[in-house]
Amino acid sequence: MRISALTLDGVGGGGLVTDEAPRIAFALASDVPGEALASATIRVGDWEIETDDQIGTVYGGELTPYTEYPVHVVATGVTGAVAEAATSFRTGRLGAPWTARWITDAGYTTPKKASPAPMTFRASFAARRPIRRAWLEATALGVYELELNGRKVGDQYFAPGFTSYRHHIQYQTHDVTDRLSDVNELVATVAGGWAVGSFTFARKNRIYADRQAFLCELHLEYDDGSTELIATGPDWEVSTDGPFRAAEWYDGENYDATVTPDRQHWRRADVTRPVGDPAILAQYGPAVRAQRVLRPVARSVAPSSELIFDLGQNFAGVIDVTIRGRHGQTVTFRHAEVLVDGELFVRSLRTAKATAVYTCVDGEQRYSPRLTCMGFRYVGVSGIDPDDLDLRALVLHSDLPETGAFRCSNDLLNRLQSAIRWGGWSNFVDIPTDCPQRDEREGWTGDYAVFASTASFNFDMSRFVGKWLRDVSAEQGRGGGIPMVVPRAGNGFPVMATSCWGDVCILAPWAEYLARGDLNLLRRHYPTMRRFLKAARWWSELLSVGRRRRIWRLPFHFGDWAAPDGSVRQWIARGRWIATAYFATSCAIAARIAELLGETEDAAAYRRLRDEAVRAYRDVLTDGHGTVKREFQTAYVLPLHFGMTEGDETRAMADNLVRLIDAAGGHLGTGFPGTPYLLFALSDNGRLDAAYELLLQTSCPSWLYMIRSGGTTIWERWDALRPDGTVNTDSLTGGADADSGGMVSFNHYAAGAVGDWLYRRVAGIEPLDGGYRRFRVAPRPGGGLTSAEATIDTPYGRAGSSWRIDGDRFALRVEVPVSTVCVATLPDGTEHRLESGTHEFACRADLAPRRGID
Ligand code: BGC
Repeated sequence: MRISALTLDGVGGGGLVTDEAPRIAFALASDVPGEALASATIRVGDWEIETDDQIGTVYGGELTPYTEYPVHVVATGVTGAVAEAATSFRTGRLGAPWTARWITDAGYTTPKKASPAPMTFRASFAARRPIRRAWLEATALGVYELELNGRKVGDQYFAPGFTSYRHHIQYQTHDVTDRLSDVNELVATVAGGWAVGSFTFARKNRIYADRQAFLCELHLEYDDGSTELIATGPDWEVSTDGPFRAAEWYDGENYDATVTPDRQHWRRADVTRPVGDPAILAQYGPAVRAQRVLRPVARSVAPSSELIFDLGQNFAGVIDVTIRGRHGQTVTFRHAEVLVDGELFVRSLRTAKATAVYTCVDGEQRYSPRLTCMGFRYVGVSGIDPDDLDLRALVLHSDLPETGAFRCSNDLLNRLQSAIRWGGWSNFVDIPTDCPQRDEREGWTGDYAVFASTASFNFDMSRFVGKWLRDVSAEQGRGGGIPMVVPRAGNGFPVMATSCWGDVCILAPWAEYLARGDLNLLRRHYPTMRRFLKAARWWSELLSVGRRRRIWRLPFHFGDWAAPDGSVRQWIARGRWIATAYFATSCAIAARIAELLGETEDAAAYRRLRDEAVRAYRDVLTDGHGTVKREFQTAYVLPLHFGMTEGDETRAMADNLVRLIDAAGGHLGTGFPGTPYLLFALSDNGRLDAAYELLLQTSCPSWLYMIRSGGTTIWERWDALRPDGTVNTDSLTGGADADSGGMVSFNHYAAGAVGDWLYRRVAGIEPLDGGYRRFRVAPRPGGGLTSAEATIDTPYGRAGSSWRIDGDRFALRVEVPVSTVCVATLPDGTEHRLESGTHEFACRADLAPRRGID
């Protein structure tokens, strides 16, 4: 037996932990079948605990600033085998007061509705004695890039990251021991970013501060034991006319390489302070970095004569170019997700210009934007001879370990799975966004509410979501409402309890708990869930009396958002069905969470509430026998999947759902709230055949229609690209609106929530307990697939399900990690309880899907 992974707060050891006590987790590997942890001793410095919990031990000792803590784990298995491993972690400031002062250019006025000019701050300092250790801590209002002696410090993009800056700001730490000379210069460029720059489609700016500000401390420890601190203050210089002429999220970046420091106007920096006195915390979210390089797969010349590069994949990132240029030559790069008639299609970007403009010096040079990000597949270039340009692109997203993989015998489904993952990567740039390209890129809560489970199958979301949920809780309204966008950052919607979007405060921690088993996350956000459900309960009683009590109508719901049929008004009109059903399921999940946390009274109360909502749905919204009074697919999907139906009603609802699908020509009709559960509603209620038919449908609207139409990510609208080749830029109110660009993105992950079904039903693997301590493997072959497999890197190690059909033989292989138990069910109904190890089974393949309710 060996310890195959040892992590602190979900990352490998050796690093800096956040300001809270770290959670220690370890995975075991063994060749002995049935191995499991019997007990472990975890030692951190002189703190020690004896435990049988592999994934949830929280360090309970003291934490002192700037200290290294050795971690030692000795695990004993049920077979008597022993394994050990060691690592360490370091603490940062832990709230130690800053000597540095926030600095800015108080004379600079950010223009109305626009982003500010990037500010450059600089200071020189000497380090004449030999250095033992030097480290930097920095943060900003805005997003910053730091250079020490002309070279970038670290490889992170968009520091300090996007948080609810009124509540908390992250700071970054960099070891620079090997980077110092006798004379040194620190230069920080701070763009407006999320704090000051233009943001939201209303193009608000100065959301958290009137102008950028920067805070930095450089700690020097000399060999002779003495120390020195270089800290931002009024002795630093500032300029607003550096080579970064402009930088912002939507419009892009303008960089003039001919601008040298001696041409800039420098003045003394002014001391300032952020509004609201936010906590400044060691970075607790994963960093955004360049995760891979894409090279063009094709080059064309548009009818307008613009040179166009196709990177073969829609994604979020930046170009990275090598240019042979002349002093003063200006090269322009425009970005788009799709081509229409051979031209970049940019109307869907609405007000976002998504353009990088680079002014050259003489000779060969390299340029890649550092203070912006775009969502694109195509780049249009002008101002340069193609022979003088070498273009690549960098894919940017937060560090997200890939924990899941899914593959099957159908190539289109594999491409769908790829599009789902790219949709995740593109929208996990520091916060979960709706889209990476147009004038939004906001933390719309509903989008993540429906995608959370799929995300957690594919990636280790723990740090990323943990960071964002802090903001969800911090920004919860006093009445319990959850902002529709987190961080709210200028978004104009009032904070109120709204279904599906607000339910993210329950659905996201729950998905994360099932995937990673972190009970602390549930504990931390339980008060938020309680407040939200209290608000939902209150609204579900307002003007809903008698039988109608718990029909949650008010104050507002997005309803069946982005359903293929109807306009925004019709989506919203479906609100009460969706809200009442989501309320029921959130109460059911909250009851399970309350039980896990030992809140048994709450659990009982949530179960009662759930039953009331279920009854109201049946009594008021259906005829009591499984037919919804105003029919639409989501109105059947939700009660079926949320277990709100009984007996004959279930069969009737499933049949009704299939009837609606048939009436739509074999097409789905769900918006954000229904899409994740549509196939489950069918497959788990006797209609596996219909589920596979929808999954494999290739005409519009369907998932594979997107893929067949060339989609490499998931679209916001099912018909974003219509069968006639036009883009659906219709305005939200129904009519064609020539100016607005409508609401159409080719990179929204919500509909990619079908990824959940690929793992849970096609490959058949899903957690039964938090972190897969108990899990199920029960593949549901169908749709003509002859094989499928999924692997999941659970906190206990790798779990896997892999099946294959050869003639009339179905063969299944299951991988069970040490310390976990798997219940495997074969398509013929036989069940096996499995302990750790690899297991193989076979039965008769029955390709005809079973009918009848399972
Ligand atoms: C966003 C969505 C979001 C929605 C709210 C849109 O503009 O892009 O994905 O959830 O608004 O209705």
